[in-house]
Amino acid sequence: MSNKKPDTSHTKLNTDYLVIGSGLAGLYAAHYASKFGKVLIVTKSTVKESNSYWAQGGIAAALDPEDSAVFHSEDTINAGRGLCNIEAVDVLVKEGKERILDLIELGMVFDSDEEGLKFGLEGGHSKRRVLHAGGNSTGQGMVEFLISSVEKNSNIEVLELASVTDLVSDGKSCSGAWAYNQEENEYILINAKATVLATGGASALFERTTNPDGATGEGLDLAYRAGAELMDMEFIQFHPTAFYSDSGETFLITEAVRGEGAHLVNREGKRFMNKYHGLGELAPRDIVSKSIYDELKESGSKYVYLTLSHLERPFIIKRFSNIYGLCMNQGLDLTCDLIPVAPAAHYTIGGVRTGLMGETNLSGLYACGEVTCTGVHGANRLASNSLLECIVFAKRVIDGANKYFETSAGLNIEPGQPGIFSNTDSKDQESFDNIKNEIQNLNTHVLGIVRNGADIKDYISKLVSIIEESRTLSGWFAYKILSMGNMSRLIAESALYREESRGAHLRSDFPEEKEDLKTHIVNRLGMEPYQVKL
Ligand code: SIN
Repeated sequence: MSNKKPDTSHTKLNTDYLVIGSGLAGLYAAHYASKFGKVLIVTKSTVKESNSYWAQGGIAAALDPEDSAVFHSEDTINAGRGLCNIEAVDVLVKEGKERILDLIELGMVFDSDEEGLKFGLEGGHSKRRVLHAGGNSTGQGMVEFLISSVEKNSNIEVLELASVTDLVSDGKSCSGAWAYNQEENEYILINAKATVLATGGASALFERTTNPDGATGEGLDLAYRAGAELMDMEFIQFHPTAFYSDSGETFLITEAVRGEGAHLVNREGKRFMNKYHGLGELAPRDIVSKSIYDELKESGSKYVYLTLSHLERPFIIKRFSNIYGLCMNQGLDLTCDLIPVAPAAHYTIGGVRTGLMGETNLSGLYACGEVTCTGVHGANRLASNSLLECIVFAKRVIDGANKYFETSAGLNIEPGQPGIFSNTDSKDQESFDNIKNEIQNLNTHVLGIVRNGADIKDYISKLVSIIEESRTLSGWFAYKILSMGNMSRLIAESALYREESRGAHLRSDFPEEKEDLKTHIVNRLGMEPYQVKL
């Protein structure tokens, strides 16, 4: 590495709302905020590359006359294993219906037939209430709908291929962020009245994941370094049915296939879910993932199978056209072949601790979508509640920021220096790949579906040396490993702290739920983890 001081000359931008991230939560926040002021969306990739874009599942809302917000709330709370923030659940299920009706009024099309909207069934839901768009391309449908509105909106500017390196914060407030524009090789200091984090989750910290590569929790790291509280980091949700191949190539096979009647079978071709839970294949997600884990452990196999061969072929091809195509690319016919599947890291339940208006402990900093933790999902998120969470809390974040503007006198925080990316040296690529693979592999083995204290302790010491090692890398490579290492450490420390098994967090050395751990674990820079009750 050169000792020459890097050139951080920069341009400056001012905006009312800085939205970091361009998934469903970021786009919805931008769309709504544009009614009140200027919005700048900054995204490290392009607007189409978010996690939401790839969401197959759907969006849950109690819109069917046979259903009600009360039933939706009960299902969410049951799945959450005693840790749901009940007020947040109430907001989600009630306002979720309103937000979906708003979108329909704006022209968003959800799948319907001659009788009206079509409602799908997924694990943990007592009613058919999951809306889809384009069969199993719901995330794409919603993101594209909002992108078209954002593109036409003169109050919204989008900065693509720009990585936010740091938030501008004094540990109490936040007044914007530093970004690095990869195309122009330029630093930008963005001054914002409100900064909204909508950067998604951290499941790509794991080797097997349904998330895009970039989902390694950089937004969580930005917030943490700025002094924001992170909560429930130990709860990583594993999706039971990600496609399995020896090459490591994987993709999500939506829970909706089980909602339509698909079975899980072991290598003898026998169904096994009924021996674990009365709802069989439609048990809550934590239970299905753990049951598959147990089956795999017993049989020594790396995967179980999904079978749809007893269902109508034309229906499968129409309803799951996307997955049908992906399986065909692997030489398998979804309508008649056994499809190998195994759990994969899917959703980060924990995140930046926020109140019901998306506010964090730093004034001026807000968060919505998967990067946050309001406690709405408890210890195990109910399927298809995440796209709903995005739109409900994205609106609330902007309403919250608008209230804050009424009383805030404006901030004058010393911006400091940005993280340095311009000196990134491509010769570090191989070392970077090796360290990254090591972290992802260790996370999968130590922080996977079943964890134990001794292994987690060893891993935390190992992470300290991995983080040290990363300091020899240049620019972005060092930044990225440091960020991945630190976020893995927080997951590990919280997992060690939670000496019980609850929802998505299972400890072989503490297999029971404990009443005194019906609390949330909070991490904050420079402090030991602490517990809060919501
Ligand atoms: C799925 O389609 O199974 C995923 C949906 C979700 O994670 O909510």
